[in-house]
Amino acid sequence: MPRKQPKQIVRYGLENVVAVDSSICLIDGKKGVLLYRGYPIEDLAEKSTFEEVCFLLLHGELPDTQQLEQFKKELVAGSKPPEAVFRALDALPRTTLPMDALRTGASVLGAIDRSPAPEKNLNRAKLAIASFPTISAAFMRFTQGQSRLPPHPNLGLAANFLTMLRGKVPSPEEARLFDRCLIFYAEHGINASTFAARVTTSTLGDYWSAITSAIGTLKGPLHGGANAKILEMLTAIESKDKVASWVEDKLAKKELIMGIGHRVYKKKDPRAVLLKKYAKALQKKAPDPQLLDIAIAIEKDMWKRKKLPANVDFYMAIVLHWLGIPQALYPCIFAMGRIPGWSAQVMEQLADNRLIRPRAKYVGPKARKYPD
Ligand code: COA
Repeated sequence: MPRKQPKQIVRYGLENVVAVDSSICLIDGKKGVLLYRGYPIEDLAEKSTFEEVCFLLLHGELPDTQQLEQFKKELVAGSKPPEAVFRALDALPRTTLPMDALRTGASVLGAIDRSPAPEKNLNRAKLAIASFPTISAAFMRFTQGQSRLPPHPNLGLAANFLTMLRGKVPSPEEARLFDRCLIFYAEHGINASTFAARVTTSTLGDYWSAITSAIGTLKGPLHGGANAKILEMLTAIESKDKVASWVEDKLAKKELIMGIGHRVYKKKDPRAVLLKKYAKALQKKAPDPQLLDIAIAIEKDMWKRKKLPANVDFYMAIVLHWLGIPQALYPCIFAMGRIPGWSAQVMEQLADNRLIRPRAKYVGPKARKYPD
């Protein structure tokens, strides 16, 4: 059906451009509110598991007990990706970034998916949700010269990932905290990687191509690649007394401070607020507690100087570090968390599809004569 279009305008970075109708996620950047399918992120972090949030995002409603049991069974079935995935991963150099390996893994899942029928996208989503933790943990171990560990059918996604990574079942507290990290990453409207997935889907490209596009987009340091750089930055500063001069120097050089600023949240990112609280709870037992003091000092300073808030990645990096997760895996964890959101958005795009195709304002040379 033809839709009414506003007059042509240029919006650099597509800021504030509304391109689709969506019932998946509401972000109120002025108030710092985030809802998944109508539920506040604070309630989901407190009361739901990542599996429940996945179900909510995919189906629009929270599962009842029976639906959740069935969903978990399907995830267990999907948690062992086909051997072809591991053969491809084993052929990569050990120096490959885990995020590149995950993108390759998603691509192989697409290559061996013989029927491109979009009706099966829900099944594909469950396979992706269940297999991304296995692929990410396996590849991390491969880069460290260790053999991969199989998923455990009785553990949830969060506990399973930590077990496959470390070879040891985590405490319930650690598993729950990591579960919450995945919930915070699960969905976030038409951010860059979701937009990439929607663009691919809008061409009637298949599910795995959309997810591969999304992973590639997420990897960039302005998006999901930021979290892998934050720890390095906090470690280099050494103490909170050095923060003011460090920030001044960065701003003078017009360099970005990773984990700070957001396109939509202008006062606070509610996920950062909760993650800061979780980081504070871990600080006492941490071997490098100064990292949190440095982070808090940066957040305060950047708010004072530029009115920019901390985003989800800022305190996430500290929490993941104190959970003993290697930095190189942080972007994969973002992808493991975001896969239900991407999947829901792909299905929503297909349900009311129109090719996404913006235009450029031409600023090149006028038509000219080709040289003789
Ligand atoms: N460090 C230093 N300055 C920053 C900054 C940061 N992290 N984020 C934004 N700014 C500055 C910009 O340089 C700009 O300054 P100016 O007005 O003097 O030119 C101003 O703040 C406005 O920023 P803008 O570039 O319009 O923001 P954006 O909406 O285009 O970009 C991000 C949003 C997230 C890409 C940006 O804040 C950023 O690069 N942050 C660091 C990377 C990161 O953490 N990404 C994860 C996002 S969840």
